[in-house]
Amino acid sequence: MRDFVIVGHSAKTTPDFSLEDLPGTSGRMDVLCRCINSAFMLSHGIRRDVRCHLILMGGPEPKILRFDGSRLRHLNPDERSTAALIKRALSIDASPFWRESTPGIYIRKGDLRSLLESLRDDGQRLYYLREDGAQLSGTVSEGAFILGDHTGMRDDEEQLIESMGAETVSISPLSLHADHCIVIINWMCDNAAVRR
Ligand SMILES: C[S@@+](CC[C@H](N)C(=O)[O-])C[C@H]1O[C@@H](n2cnc3c(N)ncnc32)[C@H](O)[C@@H]1O
Repeated sequence: MRDFVIVGHSAKTTPDFSLEDLPGTSGRMDVLCRCINSAFMLSHGIRRDVRCHLILMGGPEPKILRFDGSRLRHLNPDERSTAALIKRALSIDASPFWRESTPGIYIRKGDLRSLLESLRDDGQRLYYLREDGAQLSGTVSEGAFILGDHTGMRDDEEQLIESMGAETVSISPLSLHADHCIVIINWMCDNAAVRR
């Protein structure tokens, strides 16, 4: 199983944003929608062995969205329709337990700590993506990959991630967009998996 975790520091936790102006009204949900596209979209299908988690922090209480490729339906390549699926998920009453909004899209109240604890308890190895990390090994084919949004990751979040035992890894000497990192990680993991 391959997991992606993206922290959306300003992403709204309520559905009151405009699909006509995502960057201006949603707390940069457009950045997260592009991450969903990169995590799942194949030329003619969806990656069924991938899950992608968005931590939405632009509200009084953080929420987590989980996209699970094994059940995912109605996902299209454009940001607008992905944002519409997110809007729908945000309109249901979130509790500390996962609730499915549309097939393969789940929501719950929670923060980065609670998500990383559950991934670690599931046995997932944690990798924190950072520009100055150690080079990600080409033999890695699965794990949970944690990324920042357009503002990166805060110091306290980095300390938390480190305390959870994550390895800090880099995939390029350049600073890339989070969605582009996801494409590269998928490519690396795909290649590592066929060589195993
Ligand atoms: C747009 S970058 C953040 C940019 C930068 N840290 C800042 O705050 O200006 C979004 C995320 O992509 C990941 N990332 C970008 N370039 C990377 C690289 N070369 N290696 C590993 N991760 C990278 C990191 O997780 C980063 O937080």
